[in-house]
Amino acid sequence: MKIKRLGAAAGAEVSGVDISKPLSNAEFDAIHQAFADHCVLVFPGQKLSPEQQLAFSRRFGPPIAHVLEGFRLPDYPEVFIVSNKKKKDANGEKPVGAIYAGQYWHTDLSYVAEPAMASMLHSLEMPSVGGDTMFANMYLAYDNLSAPMKAFLAPLEALHDYTHAYETVLSKLPGRPPMTEEQKALVPPVVHPVIRTHPVTKKKALYVNPGFTRRILGLTEDESSALLGFLHMHATRPEFIYRHDWTVGDVVLWDNRCLMHRAISDYDMNEPRHMHRTTIAGDKPFN
Ligand code: OGA
Ligand code: MN
Repeated sequence: MKIKRLGAAAGAEVSGVDISKPLSNAEFDAIHQAFADHCVLVFPGQKLSPEQQLAFSRRFGPPIAHVLEGFRLPDYPEVFIVSNKKKKDANGEKPVGAIYAGQYWHTDLSYVAEPAMASMLHSLEMPSVGGDTMFANMYLAYDNLSAPMKAFLAPLEALHDYTHAYETVLSKLPGRPPMTEEQKALVPPVVHPVIRTHPVTKKKALYVNPGFTRRILGLTEDESSALLGFLHMHATRPEFIYRHDWTVGDVVLWDNRCLMHRAISDYDMNEPRHMHRTTIAGDKPFN
């Protein structure tokens, strides 16, 4: 097994290992260490069935099912389909999975009390060009704030709400029916610290994101939106970003505790982009 860094900000490629097979504890320890060191791991040239992807995911923690049940893989509630493909049914064409998934900076599931620790995408079909995914290193975002700004942010908490992404971005896109009241009831807003300590590395990371962070508590509305605007601009500086150019067969595992990510919608929508995602449970963020 070989581990090679892919970017200055984050990312490492793990090659020489077939993750469809059970791994030894020594191999897994090396992967776990690389995950802590690089935040994004890329396993190229893999071919995983849904069971195999779930089995590998389980080595990191329990996989969880997404709130939008319409985008789950039939028979595999914990496998979420990220796709621009369409299927025909009695009512016409509809997307087979989440179309336009993640086309705004966000952190997966920051809108629940115990957000996803990690997410894993396995690319099955990719457009000929475009469709990259960007990852922003939130340790670097925190480290590059001034001491007075770090001190100001240290005690603050923010409200995270899934419906924020729907209101600001998703509701404007085709193929994204409005959330039902039942779906909304499943995702009430939650509060998290603005700065979180990574439970494994013990390093501090900025933990707000444009997708799901509605506001910083204790500030006026204007103060909150100005500060969030600054933090989002700061956190997405080019030198904090690893940009992944997908090849079919890639499995990319990322750590939601120290990253934001964003899909880039620059590709020809007539070319399929199709992936299977698993999401791994995490614990409650702490300062
Ligand atoms: C996701 C996501 C990004 C992409 O699946 O969580 O944000 O590039 N996807 O598809
Ligand atoms: Mn995402």
